[in-house]
Amino acid sequence: MKIVSAINDLRKARLALPGSFGLVPTMGYLHEGHLALVRRAKAENDRVGVSIFVNPAQFGPNDDLSKYPRDMDRDLRLLEEAGVDLVWTATSDIGYPPGFQTFVHVEHVSIPLEGKHRPGHFRGVATVVAKLFNVFTPDRAYFGQKDAQQVIVIRRLASDLDFPLEIVVCPTVREPDGLAMSSRNAYLNREERRAATVLYRALSAAKGAFDKGERDGAKLRTLMASVIASEPLAQMEYVSAADADTLTEFNWVSSNVVLLSLAARIGNTRLIDNFLLPETSNFKL
Ligand code: PAJ
Repeated sequence: MKIVSAINDLRKARLALPGSFGLVPTMGYLHEGHLALVRRAKAENDRVGVSIFVNPAQFGPNDDLSKYPRDMDRDLRLLEEAGVDLVWTATSDIGYPPGFQTFVHVEHVSIPLEGKHRPGHFRGVATVVAKLFNVFTPDRAYFGQKDAQQVIVIRRLASDLDFPLEIVVCPTVREPDGLAMSSRNAYLNREERRAATVLYRALSAAKGAFDKGERDGAKLRTLMASVIASEPLAQMEYVSAADADTLTEFNWVSSNVVLLSLAARIGNTRLIDNFLLPETSNFKL
């Protein structure tokens, strides 16, 4: 496994790898969710690259950039074991050298939900992902449904800027009690960890109602909000029942696929999760 930091070294190492190439972008502190993307990329490509870059451009001034969890030795060991060919790991000044001033802004789908609560977040994501696509020139890039709006933004970016690659979306990997795996789960203490299942419970309640025929968007949102309100350690940021294509909130869910999504703070830790309904639909994010 080749490990590089400088962009020129990355280009050289990439050019030395013939065959189809799959890229898995990450911010490190790897868990089973990340490794599921790596395994899928391994299965579908001759070569696999992973980026580990805690991208400062996607963190707001009050976000957790400086205390974002890191464990490079462990990450590299896991990637080596998974049979990854190339790893790019970098500090801020390699990603954003002095004088950097070019950013990628995806317009409409960046506005609601995460975009509204984390201003500038998707500008940072889109910029770093465009840079990764440029330098890694992957045939396929792998992302998790866990960050559903991120997938929607990146699909738009890849299509609008003519990146010749396939975006592959992998299902959310969960803990046995339903909590979506996330590097940020490491912040939770015992009590908070127990409370954090409220996101999954809220989504499951709305799915239960949907499965019984509920199509009133406001009722689905209220149901999720009431489950979150029942958990004293949780503070809701938003609940959404939106069209999975446009992210427009539904008044009434007709034939379309609905993306149920929510964000909540458990103590100081901000968590997100989502379900795509109906599960039986062929629709892919
Ligand atoms: P990060 O949060 O490290 O996630 C890297 C990739 O792993 C993303 O595509 C994310 O959706 C996926 N992922 C995270 N948890 C998952 C889970 N429980 N199940 C399945 N997939 C999961 O997302 C980012 O980094 C950054 O925004 C990035 C795309 C790397 C740009 O900086």
